[in-house]
Formats: sequence, C-alpha cells, structure tokens
Amino acid sequence: MRLGHHLTIQNGHLHIGGHDCISLARQYGTPLYVTSEDRVCEQFLSYRKALSARYPKVQVLFAAKANGNLAVMRALARLGAGADIFSSGELTLALAAGMAPEKLLFNGSSKTPADLKLAVEKGVKVSVDSLDELHQLDAAARAAGTTAKIAFRVNPALEVPTHPKIATGLATSKFGIPHREIPAAYREALACSNILSVGIHCHIGSQILDVEPFARAAEVMVRIAKEITETGVNLEFIDLGGGLGIPYHHDTDPAPTPEDYAAKVVPVFKAGVEACGITPELWVEPGRSLTADSTVLLTRVNSTKAAHKRFANVDAGFNLLIRPAMYDAYHEVIVANKADRPLTTEYTVTGPICESGDILAPDRKLPQLEAGDIIAVLDAGAYGFAMSSQYNSRPRCPEVLVRGPDAALMRRGETVGDLTSTMEQPPWQR
Ligand code: LLP
Repeated sequence: MRLGHHLTIQNGHLHIGGHDCISLARQYGTPLYVTSEDRVCEQFLSYRKALSARYPKVQVLFAAKANGNLAVMRALARLGAGADIFSSGELTLALAAGMAPEKLLFNGSSKTPADLKLAVEKGVKVSVDSLDELHQLDAAARAAGTTAKIAFRVNPALEVPTHPKIATGLATSKFGIPHREIPAAYREALACSNILSVGIHCHIGSQILDVEPFARAAEVMVRIAKEITETGVNLEFIDLGGGLGIPYHHDTDPAPTPEDYAAKVVPVFKAGVEACGITPELWVEPGRSLTADSTVLLTRVNSTKAAHKRFANVDAGFNLLIRPAMYDAYHEVIVANKADRPLTTEYTVTGPICESGDILAPDRKLPQLEAGDIIAVLDAGAYGFAMSSQYNSRPRCPEVLVRGPDAALMRRGETVGDLTSTMEQPPWQR
C-alpha cells in the first residue's frame, strides 16, 4: 500500500514520524490517536507555497472543524495560519492557539446572538449567511460601539462530485445566499452603519478529488466580485473555501495536491481580479487536506470471531471515528504489529458500540489476527476525534502528538469520572 513518507514500516511495525506505533500503544494504551506535527506543517506549507508562487497576496486558513486540538492549531498558528471557525468554541480555540483575529473568518448559517457578540468583541471577520443575520450583526456591532467586517457567503449553485451530505454549494443547500441575490446583499450592507463589507466567501463541498469544480467556483466568485466592486465595495479578500479531497483509497484514488489546485484555480482567480482592477487577498480554508493523513487511530483487537464473516472486534468504534458509519467512508487499515506479513485472511473490523453499523472497515484482507494485535486506521486526522462522542458511556481516548524525536500527550484520555462530571442530580432525587 502506498504510504505518505511520515508512515514507514520497520521491523514489521508501522511507524509514524519515526515513532513505533506499537511502543506508543504500549505507553499510552489504546484506543489512541497519534498525529505527526511535521506532516501537518508540511501540508500547510505546501498550500502556501503553491498559491504564493502564483499570486502575491495569499492567506491559508485552517478549517478548525477538521481537528480542534489546540496543539495542532498552535503548530499551524506558528506558521502564520488563520482559521475558518464555525462556533464560539472554535473562535476561542483559534485565539488561544495564537491565531491573529484578523485572519479568522466566523462562518455558519445559524449563529446565535452570543456568537455575533463574541465575533464583534474579538474583531474577527464574519461570513454573513443571510440578510437577517446581517441586521443582527449590525445591531451587535452598534451596541459594542464598533464596526463589523464582513463577507457574504455565496451559494454558487454548483454540483460537485462528492457525498451528498458534504456538498455545500448546491442550489438546494442550507448554506449561503443565492449567487444572483449577492449584489443586492452588498447594497443592503452599504446601508448598515456598523457593517463594512471587505470580502466574499464560498465553500462548495468537501472531499472533492477533482480540481475542476474549484476553478468553476472561482469563476463565479470573480464574476460576482466585479459586480460588487462596481457598486463601491472595496474587496480586501476573496475566500474560495476548502474542500480538496485526499486519497482515502491509497492505491486507486486520485491524489490532487495543493500544487494541482493552485495551478488550476489561481489563473482563473488572477485573470478575474485583474479584470476588476483589484488585488484582493486570496483566501483558502482547507481542513481535511491539511490534517487527515497526519494521523492514525490505533485500536487493539479484543477478539476475533468466525461467524457469517470473520470479524475482528476492536476497541475503537464509531464513538471515535464516525466517518465509515456516517458516510460509508473508506479508511485504509494496517495491522501495525504485523505490517510486513502477507494479507491472507479477510476480516470485517468492527467496533465495540452496540449497533450493527459500528463497522470501521468491512471485508479487508489482513494478516491472520489474534487478540492483542494493534490495527492502525489511517487518515484519521480530519473529522476523526473532532466528531467523536461518548456514546455507550465510553470515555474518549487520548491523543498523542509526535514531532521529530519527541512524543507527548496533546489530550489526555477521558475517565468515567469525566462522563459524570457534568451531570446534575435533580433535587427530587436527592
Ligand atoms: N470551509 C467551510 C465553510 C466548510 O464548511 C468546510 C467543511 C471547510 C472549509 C473545510 O473543508 P475540507 O477542506 O475539510 O474539505 N465531516 C465530513 C466533512 C464535513 C465538512 C464540513 N465543512 C467528513 O468527515 O467527511
């Protein structure tokens, strides 16, 4: 199986960033998320390099929803990353990680009054999703005695080749304002005393393995940029969103790189803004393509069973990685302590959750398994831990970060005490 260069096989063991996954599993226990900081940084830098080689003003924002660990966000902040944030929680984490407020864009179609207030107080930019929200934000900024800098979220009405649950720019999607209504929205914003329109934003979907749709989105965005520039808006940035996919099937999926993305998209963007006579910053907000392949989820085989199929029952399920259950997503698996053995036997790798759909990896050819083996689920660094839950009252597992020769916890494992710590006893039960 093709592996990123941060994943290697030495003496039959899978290593991540030079660290033996089996030693890590022994030291920290399983299940365990392990992330290579160097890999995350490498992906970020490759985006910035590919874009800045073609356009002078570039900002790479990390889509914080993909991986909300502070240590990951801090590593990116140190390289100058901003963030696409989708909640007050993500906003607070991004600032705590050291990201500059002016590089944060608060997105979302359903912001609370408290979200708007926090955005205004912290001076982050807001991607406004409706005219109703525009007026609420104007009032919040007025109340705080300040001006809110905004972009409108454009719904470009683009079909994209991905799972329907993660296509966000369809005409029928809940996100954004229909592209034809966007110029009127900017006119309305001009009439708001505490709003300053400085940008324009879209995001067409996630796990898109073809760069062509991003070029089409860029075309729509520069066309709108021209219209709104003519109405007097001074565009400081155009944000094309995230969405570049990764090859979850390592040997067969296309593997578009930031370089492929930039080569396709930047010329369209550049020609478009030149035609408007403006030089706004080009913003992108990748999530998955920055962090997914940096991380493995290590899970121990509790038992094997030959029934209707051969099952490998492991200690991580959709409580820790919901993507297979939720989107029928495919993740490669490697038996981390038998990584050089022949793939002789077909197993379905199932989790410990009380649902038949708790399957991490169906019908995979693996070496002969026994209890105690450690399976590494690959590409788990985006929408992995971030979407985890405590279902079946299972405390969430720890996360370890490795960098060069060092390895350290970046999140301790929860305990059963953590499960009950937020629960209250109603007075009549006392
Ligand atoms: N910007 C906005 C406004 C977004 O909504 C998203 C993702 C991104 C950027 C980052 O997209 P990325 O580069 O990661 O594709 N849980 C799903 C993915 C949901 C994506 C939601 N929005 C999954 O596990 O596949």
